[in-house]
Amino acid sequence: MKAVIPAAGLGTRFLPATKETPKELLPVLNKPVIQYVVEEALEPEGVDEVVIVNSREKPQLESYFRVDGGYEDMLRKRGKTTEADLVHEASKLPVSFVYQDNPRGLGHAVHCAADKVGDEPFFVLLGDYFVPDHQMCVRMAEVSKQHNGASVIAVAPVPADQVSRYGIIAGEHVGSLDGSDVADEDEGAVWKVTGLVEKPAPEDAPSHLYIVGRYLLTPRIMDLLANQGVGAGGEIQLTDAMERLLGEEEMYALVVDPTEGCDTGTPAAWAGVNARLALADESTREAFLEALGKSALGDN
Ligand code: G1P
Repeated sequence: MKAVIPAAGLGTRFLPATKETPKELLPVLNKPVIQYVVEEALEPEGVDEVVIVNSREKPQLESYFRVDGGYEDMLRKRGKTTEADLVHEASKLPVSFVYQDNPRGLGHAVHCAADKVGDEPFFVLLGDYFVPDHQMCVRMAEVSKQHNGASVIAVAPVPADQVSRYGIIAGEHVGSLDGSDVADEDEGAVWKVTGLVEKPAPEDAPSHLYIVGRYLLTPRIMDLLANQGVGAGGEIQLTDAMERLLGEEEMYALVVDPTEGCDTGTPAAWAGVNARLALADESTREAFLEALGKSALGDN
């Protein structure tokens, strides 16, 4: 079973840094953002390969995951064994690449991985968000299992004035992940999806539940994406193909707490994630607070 990470975007929000460095390789502490997403993608049982949908403009992404024996040897000769192990670890991850030659939208990007995915369900993980404890997709797989292998998406409540930034679901609350009583928009609530709309105007939004960027989809979606027309923003939208899938198959949504994950989509959010993880890790916490204190006082 595969997990797909669309990563062909230009990263314009991070210019000028992303003129030379793909945004997926920007570090959170000492590890590139994409590696957190790949490690998360490999957590659910059965996922054995991550397919990254890249653009030809970003060969650095592919070389990051390639073994570089000469570089590792050089590090080892200098006694940098731990560092060499870290470099090696990334190159051992089961990652493969496909290319999206034209940026025609998320639906188009996902379809670029159709041959790799084959006739099996697959995950899609949007690459500017990662979940440190890796459990979101694991819980989605559980919901799918409870509903005969149906597609499952992670959703969360969003204020009414922000619905037009996201894909929004229509549906009904049908239960919870662990069978306990939860309110309809609380974490763990499970919805049966009856409609999906990409970036609706607030008055057209069928609910306040937005798609957070984690999908478990049946392979039928690839057939639908093959002839999906353009939608919101003139792009081929995954959401629109999922809306068509609803005409043929059941689909469920799991309400999650999006703050359990880390959003790295803008410079400010990315800086916040660095701070959050630096504070969470004992090996960096004190030095981080000290550095922050100094710079807050203007000493740095
Ligand atoms: C994409 C999806 C949208 C989803 C969002 C989550 O939109 O099309 O349905 O809610 O990701 O971040 P984008 O952010 O690419 O505009």
